[in-house]
Amino acid sequence: SAAEKGGYDYFMLKEIAEQPKAVADTLLGRVDESGVLSLDEVRIEDTVLREATKVVIVACGTAFHAGMIAKYAIEHWTRIPCEVELASEFRYRDPILDPRTLVVAISQSGETMDTLMAVRHAREQGAKVLAVCNTNGSTIPRESDAVLYTHAGPEVAVASTKAFLTQLVACYLLALYLGQVRGTQWGDEIRAVVRELAAIGTQVDQVLGTMEPVRELARSLAGKNTVLFLGRHVGYPVALEGALKLKELAYMHAEGFAAGELKHGPIALIEEGVPVVVVVPSPRGRSVLHDKIVSNIQEIRARGALTIVVAEDGDETVVPYADHLVRIPRTPTLLQPMVSTVPLQVFACELATARGNEVDQPRNLAKSVTVE
Ligand code: AGP
Repeated sequence: SAAEKGGYDYFMLKEIAEQPKAVADTLLGRVDESGVLSLDEVRIEDTVLREATKVVIVACGTAFHAGMIAKYAIEHWTRIPCEVELASEFRYRDPILDPRTLVVAISQSGETMDTLMAVRHAREQGAKVLAVCNTNGSTIPRESDAVLYTHAGPEVAVASTKAFLTQLVACYLLALYLGQVRGTQWGDEIRAVVRELAAIGTQVDQVLGTMEPVRELARSLAGKNTVLFLGRHVGYPVALEGALKLKELAYMHAEGFAAGELKHGPIALIEEGVPVVVVVPSPRGRSVLHDKIVSNIQEIRARGALTIVVAEDGDETVVPYADHLVRIPRTPTLLQPMVSTVPLQVFACELATARGNEVDQPRNLAKSVTVE
């Protein structure tokens, strides 16, 4: 009913708007004044976490994209090698697992069969499994050694939005926690990152307040057949997520690429008028990445692409090459996905509406996929 949707036309819009609160709730009470993280649902001994030799993340769909991003944070803050694998592929390749492997299973519903099977397989091989999950008491956390709940609240729309942002927050907290028990992260550093995470809610609100031009742009593209997405570093999984949202909601051909791969094939797809969304990393952090993507934008624009550039406030270098510019607030590099994903969610939702699609219940899809 309209009341359940809190005055929004769709659950998806309501859930997009709830993201700042979801992020805040997921952070709540998890770090004390001295910067010590306590994740009380982690029922794995600190000694086991201290001795883990690798982290393997398993997940599907949007949760898999969260895992791809989490890998950057985990390796950066802990220096433990981290792999990310689609849950549906995992057990079929006989993965190398032992009691020193920490498997992290990310799932909004906690009922995704592919992910559950990966969890069971990992535990049979003696690995420890930690679930990052949004649904209390669901099957995946029940069958795992530990759980870190995301507190996004119920997500009804088939397209995942607020669960994704909170999965990132939870995985980042986990990364910091691993750093803490292993001595690669200290109180001050942890406090600083937690402060940056706490600022994300306001920044998401800021993005949400400037979405009218994005909606207008989406409506103008309703007749297109293809939309491409490019990103680098943590922006690459964001590009994949933007494309997934568009597939499931707008039923359009959409693909995400690592921008550096363009010249290895995908650039052949660029022709007059093809919309390409480019997620631009901060010019302040790893400026090499930033400069490379700016030349990628020039290359595709010279070949006729309609460039839709998502870039940080104050980044003027992209202005001459952007047919459409979507501004996002400045964030530390690792945190940018939490704000850059938001315009892509809004874009997909509006395109779905413009094409007359059912936003909350896309064709052929179920909210949780309980078959393999
Ligand atoms: C996201 O928009 C999708 N509906 C889908 O990819 C989803 O993220 C995937 O099925 C995993 O679901 P889970 O998080 O409940 O395990």
